[in-house]
Amino acid sequence: MAETLECLRTSPGGITTRVCVKRMLPGHRDDPELVRLFEREARLSLQLSHGGIARAIETLVDDEGPALVLEYVEGIDLRAYLTAIRERGELPPIETVLLILKDLLLALHHAHTLETDAIPNGLVHRDISPSNVLLGIDGDVKLVDFGIAKAVGDSYRTATGIIRGKIPYMAPEYARTGHYDVRSDLFSLGVVAYELLTLTRPYQGRNDPETLEHAALGRRAPLASFRAHVPPALEAVVESLLSPRPDDRPRDAREVLESLAGLGGEVSARTALAAEVRARREARAKERMSLETAATSPAAIEPTRAIVEGETAPLSATEPLPVAEATLLLTNAAADGKRSAPELGASRSTLVGVVAVGVALAVLTWLALSSG
Ligand SMILES: Nc1ncnc2c1ncn2[C@@H]1O[C@H](COP(=O)(O)OP(=O)(O)O)[C@@H](O)[C@H]1O
Ligand SMILES: [Mg+2]
Repeated sequence: MAETLECLRTSPGGITTRVCVKRMLPGHRDDPELVRLFEREARLSLQLSHGGIARAIETLVDDEGPALVLEYVEGIDLRAYLTAIRERGELPPIETVLLILKDLLLALHHAHTLETDAIPNGLVHRDISPSNVLLGIDGDVKLVDFGIAKAVGDSYRTATGIIRGKIPYMAPEYARTGHYDVRSDLFSLGVVAYELLTLTRPYQGRNDPETLEHAALGRRAPLASFRAHVPPALEAVVESLLSPRPDDRPRDAREVLESLAGLGGEVSARTALAAEVRARREARAKERMSLETAATSPAAIEPTRAIVEGETAPLSATEPLPVAEATLLLTNAAADGKRSAPELGASRSTLVGVVAVGVALAVLTWLALSSG
C-alpha cells in the first residue's frame, strides 16, 4: 500500500536531517478505503510518544499525495537481523531475545494504554511482525508501521470485510471472527518471540488456511525441540502468549513484563545487539558500494536505492548524503509471510545496477574508440 523512502528534510530554520517518509503507492491513491487507512496511520502515529516507537514528525500533502514523515531509524529491521543470524547458523542470544521482547512490550504498553487529555485512547497495532521492528545502531528497539492499527475496542472488520495483517503472526480469533484486542497483539508478539528463540515460526502450514488451523489448535512444536536451555519463565511466557484462546493469554503487556522481570541483563544485551546491527550494516554497505562504483558514469543519475523489508539500507559514515528527497529506501514488498510474492524493491535495484553497468561500459567503449 505504501512505499517508504529515506529523505532529507530541511526545517524552516534551515537544519537538514535524514527522515523516513511514507507515501501511498500511486495506484492506491484513488482507493478511498486505502486513503482512509493511510490518513489514520498518520493521525495515530502523531499521537504516540515513546522511545520504543519511531517518532512521527509531521504529515504533508504535495503533488504525490499525502505523506507521513518519521524519524529515520539508522539500523536494520528484525527480519534482517534474523536472516543474518540464520546465515551464520546461530541462534540469537537469550539476553538479546529478552531485550527485544521487553522493549516491544513497553512500546505496546504505551500504545495500548495511550491517553489523550486523560481520556483513554488506546491503540492495537495489529501487525506485529519482524519487518515492523527496527533495531538501531545503538541497540535500541523501535516499533513501526501503525498502518492497520485501530483504537482499542473499535469495531472489527474493515469496510470491505478484509482481514489485514500477516497470516503467520495473526491471532486465531481475529482470523476467525475479526475480533481483535490487546491480547491479539500479544499473540503476534509471542510468534515473534518464538521465532527469535528458534528461527522457526510456531505455526507454519503448507498454505494460509493450514497455518491458521495450526494456530487455532495450538499445534506447534515445543520450544525445547529447537533450543535447549531456554529459561523456564521465558518459555512459559512464550507458551502463554501463543495460546489459541485469548483468555488463556496474559491480560496485557504489563503482566508479561512482570513475568519476565529479573531475567535479562539489559545493558550488556543492548551493547551486544548494537555491535550486531553495526556489523550487519557494514556488510551491507560494502555490498552496496560495489554497485555504486559501477554507477558513477554521468548517465547513472538515478540515485535510487530500492531495498525490500529485511534489508534496511546501510549508510556508511563516509557516504555523501543524497541531495534531494530521492532515495527509495523500501517498498511494500512481500515480507514476513505477506501473501504477495514478488520482491519489487530488489528487482528495481537490480535493474538500476544493470542499466548503470551497461551505460558505464558504453561510455568507456566510446571514450576508447574516440581516443584511438
Ligand atoms: N522510521 C524508519 N526508519 C528507518 N526504516 C524504516 C522506518 N520505518 C520503516 N522502515 C523500514 O521500512 C519498511 C517498511 O515500512 P513500514 O512502515 O513497515 O511500511 P509497510 O506498510 O510497507 O509495511 C520497514 O519494514 C522497515 O524496514
Ligand atoms: Mg511494515
